[in-house]
Amino acid sequence: MPAGKRFKIASIGAGNVGATVAQYCVELELGDVVLTDIIEGLPQGKALDLTEAGPIRGYSCKVHGTNYYKDIEGADIVIVTAGLPRKPGMTRLDLLEKNGAIVSGICENIKRYAPDSTVIVVTNPLDVMVYLAYQKLGFPPNRVMGMAGCLDSARMRSFVAMELGVSMKNVDTMVLGSHGDDMVPLPHYTTVSGIPITKLLPQERIDAIVERTRKGGGEIVALLKTGSAFYAPAASAVRMAQAILRDEKQVLPCAAYLTGQYGLNDVYMGVPCVLGQDGVERILELEISDEDRASLHKSAEEVRTGIAGLRERGIL
Ligand code: APR
Repeated sequence: MPAGKRFKIASIGAGNVGATVAQYCVELELGDVVLTDIIEGLPQGKALDLTEAGPIRGYSCKVHGTNYYKDIEGADIVIVTAGLPRKPGMTRLDLLEKNGAIVSGICENIKRYAPDSTVIVVTNPLDVMVYLAYQKLGFPPNRVMGMAGCLDSARMRSFVAMELGVSMKNVDTMVLGSHGDDMVPLPHYTTVSGIPITKLLPQERIDAIVERTRKGGGEIVALLKTGSAFYAPAASAVRMAQAILRDEKQVLPCAAYLTGQYGLNDVYMGVPCVLGQDGVERILELEISDEDRASLHKSAEEVRTGIAGLRERGIL
């Protein structure tokens, strides 16, 4: 992406996540935003509302709401947030069939109108949906990624900061694996201003934080009752978009296509990635314990079950 260019960001889906993505993008002045949804009036209304907030919030990016995919033409980044969110009692895999069909249709349009874009998938079940998008789009894998690890590690950072009464900005973490209850938070790669949390917290508190991180999405679903989290998911997707558009070479955990890393092949999973103008420019392979490696492989099995489910339903 040439430097100094005015970027175009498309958010597919103008629901809770999609509209918040648009808000964070314009507040950061990342670029002009196209908000797309199938519901008539919804993206147009939210886009106009966001535009009218501009003079007060101090941004001048354009926000365009539309029901036509052709309006995403030439987008640099497409963030896919369309699909059903979870309700209490549902797992992310329960969304497989409906969201699979939605993501498939959207990919046809991305291929048609924004063939040079980098695509960030947010729709759940995340790791399965991003694999589906990769297959349907036919883009190189560095330009198709999923937002999950960034969110899961942000949740873990918050919990560590709350537990210790320190600034969230001082906490760094790494969470690998699928975006589900089998994710693999890594306390050994969690630090507070460089101090490992294993030196600051007893094991049972660390275990409780790991468990809360794994169930972080469910905790919000149980509170909201009518939908799932959107502020932190949107913030995470926009963090990834920013790293790419501004060529920051940020190391962020993302769902990336694996070709042997961590002993896994032909699957999308959360791993530490270097994000820059070429999307996922590199995947970092960390030294992890045998136990964490086994959990990672278990989590990959869950993703493969979802992929097989798509094949059984003829979606993939
Ligand atoms: N094209 C565009 N928009 C669509 C399509 C489609 N084919 N199908 C559905 N949508 C829109 C819906 O009309 C709705 O406005 O997607 C939007 C989804 O918004 P919400 O219901 O508010 O859901 P949200 O909380 O934003 O979550 C969206 O992100 O985090 C994940 O699990 C979550 O899969 C869910 C997705």
